[in-house]
Amino acid sequence: MSSDLVISIFDDSEQVARAAAERFMARGRDAIDRQGRFSVALAGGSTPRRAYEIIASPPFRDQIDWSRVHLFFGDERPVPPAHPESNYRMVYEKLISKLPIPTENTHRIVGEGDPNQSARAYEEDLRNYFEGETWPRFDLVLLGMGDDGHTASLFPGTEGLKDETAWVTSNWIEKLKMPRITLTAPALNHAAYVLFVVTGQEKSARLQDVLEGPFDPQRLPAQLIRANEGTVEWLLDRDAASKLQAK
Ligand code: 6PG
Repeated sequence: MSSDLVISIFDDSEQVARAAAERFMARGRDAIDRQGRFSVALAGGSTPRRAYEIIASPPFRDQIDWSRVHLFFGDERPVPPAHPESNYRMVYEKLISKLPIPTENTHRIVGEGDPNQSARAYEEDLRNYFEGETWPRFDLVLLGMGDDGHTASLFPGTEGLKDETAWVTSNWIEKLKMPRITLTAPALNHAAYVLFVVTGQEKSARLQDVLEGPFDPQRLPAQLIRANEGTVEWLLDRDAASKLQAK
């Protein structure tokens, strides 16, 4: 199977959130039917929050067997889980706390403590879960994109972009003066389905660069995400898509 690229444009961010929730449910039910479990890596940041709220509310919440869903994270900030900047905290508040999901099905990246050790511990958790696999094989990866072209915590010009063997890395972000723990591009690219969720006019120019500009992943890390044997779908609102030529 080769990689597919799909661009889906909606009127507004609410429709984008609803579409993301629908994709989550459809991919989840399909994965559970086929293999008995659904493995998903969630995005942090602000854009997916509404999608998480929709997934956590009826009727969506009641459409999947949560005991068979495993929630992972694409990246984490170097903070404890109760910190306002914590991706885990955001996902816990919007989603996990509202679901009948067993605690052991939530695979948090430890943001507190030594980031190199946390990266190793998260990779070990993933390797135990995806036992015997050379790379993690998520059924679904949700990603956002920053207005500098980063995705997960793969920021422009950072060392983590070069990683070709690790599943997880502690990536120093000079402009933030802090490390972040992130799945690497090859780990993300072994997912069956990658769903980018991008909204707002302020991201339109960078989005056009990423999707239609020259391949320059050191400057535009989101270009690294290609899903080797799966699909990458971009869910966009009209504002984010406004500068795309092909729409
Ligand atoms: C994070 C994310 C990051 C995010 C983008 C977009 O931890 O911040 O995983 O990659 O998705 O920065 O963030 P917004 O949705 O807040 O614009």
